[in-house]
Amino acid sequence: MAPIPHLSVSIPSLFLLLLAACTNGFSEEKNLLHSEILKDEAVARLFELGKVSDSKDFLERTFQSAASVRAGNLIRRWMEDAGLQTWVDQMGNVHGRHEGLNPREKALLIGSHLDTVIDAGVFDGALGIITALSALKVLKIRGMLGNLKRPVEVIAFSDEEGVRFQSTFLGSAVIAGVLPVSTLHVHDKSGVTVQGALRRNAIDISEENLLQLKYDPESVYGYVEVHIEQGPVLENVGLPLGLVKGIAGQTRLKVTVKGTQGHAGTVPMKMRRDPMAGSAELIVLLESLCNEPESYLSYDGQCAASTAQSLAGSLVCTVGEISTWPSASNVIPGQVTFTVDIRAMDDLGREAVIYEFSNRIHQICDKRSLLCLIERKHDADAVACDPELSSMLKSAAYAAVRPLSGDEPDDLPVLMSGAGHDAMAMSHLTKVAMLFVRCRGGVSHSPAEHVLDDDVWAAGMALLAFLSSLV
Ligand code: GLV
Ligand code: MN
Ligand code: MN
Repeated sequence: MAPIPHLSVSIPSLFLLLLAACTNGFSEEKNLLHSEILKDEAVARLFELGKVSDSKDFLERTFQSAASVRAGNLIRRWMEDAGLQTWVDQMGNVHGRHEGLNPREKALLIGSHLDTVIDAGVFDGALGIITALSALKVLKIRGMLGNLKRPVEVIAFSDEEGVRFQSTFLGSAVIAGVLPVSTLHVHDKSGVTVQGALRRNAIDISEENLLQLKYDPESVYGYVEVHIEQGPVLENVGLPLGLVKGIAGQTRLKVTVKGTQGHAGTVPMKMRRDPMAGSAELIVLLESLCNEPESYLSYDGQCAASTAQSLAGSLVCTVGEISTWPSASNVIPGQVTFTVDIRAMDDLGREAVIYEFSNRIHQICDKRSLLCLIERKHDADAVACDPELSSMLKSAAYAAVRPLSGDEPDDLPVLMSGAGHDAMAMSHLTKVAMLFVRCRGGVSHSPAEHVLDDDVWAAGMALLAFLSSLV
């Protein structure tokens, strides 16, 4: 289907209308200033942050890498520019807070992540941080920051993608109090632990400190996150913003397949224990299972059929990383390791898929005389966004979008998220709401990721309207 073209609007009139809706009339000069912050400066910052990379050829910022630290420093400067008090915690999260009128009130937290995947786009994570800071900067310029009825805190989480340690949400899970202390000792491919990576950046953290980073739920009002949609729905309906109803649960596995290393030219085919061929069979099996769960989960009749039904439409499974040892063209490898990422809205269904896949892994490995090890690296149950907080965010987003649309949409779309977000971890601490922003072709985790400047602006305006309701 051809994508529906983006709406074309007259931006000055859009902004005047929005400001008329959320303020009581400002001079044109001020309107211009605000558009410069919410759009021009926000977009410039997205691209500036997008240049902060560990590679000169593509965007990559993993947990506590040199570029992540530089990105954190930059974000911290922008937080200060928005009038916030800043600090970096012992998990590398960057915080910026304004106490508003009542420091004892429960705080509104707004956040997203500063890390990226490898060969990333510039919007995933960064958009949520930068739009929040732009909206707060406008409030500061209007002299309204001190009138906020409750504290507002922006958090740039240090790890959501889980690229370096394969366990996602290191940043948000610690704030939510759901990060196991043992995570400090998980190591990356070069043997550096989470604790060691922090120590290299002069951050000392013990198991005891880690527990102390948890926020008191009584001190928090809710958590809001703006994020690119990473899917095509908003583009198809021709709207820049949509609300998120819930986020799919996810599990990440690491599968290690061990065989017998040998000479590619001399070991007869019938005598091989080849973990590469075994892994290929397992990977194709995973694809089939997730394409047609009903064919694989049908062994116990009715119950399995209903599980397969509840998985329909949301189950997705991916092998995104594979490594072999010793990895040479003339050697049968001794070992192959690959990752498995399984997501679904239905948590029990996801468990059924993992159970079925694990059983079949062992059967195939037995048949091929291979040794197989399955490690569960990450689990997050599906999350439902809070109806009340979502409705407030939706009203704010609607106020931002309405002037954009010639024919005034009746409502904004409400979507499910297949991608994981810090909001998943934060849901263990407090109620959460999320706003999605249209991205070109629904593409993300790619340098082709793109958000229109006007959509960055719409997201900033939505947050500004939301924050204005707290003034
Ligand atoms: C994060 O982007 C994820 O969904 O893996
Ligand atoms: Mn991502
Ligand atoms: Mn993200």
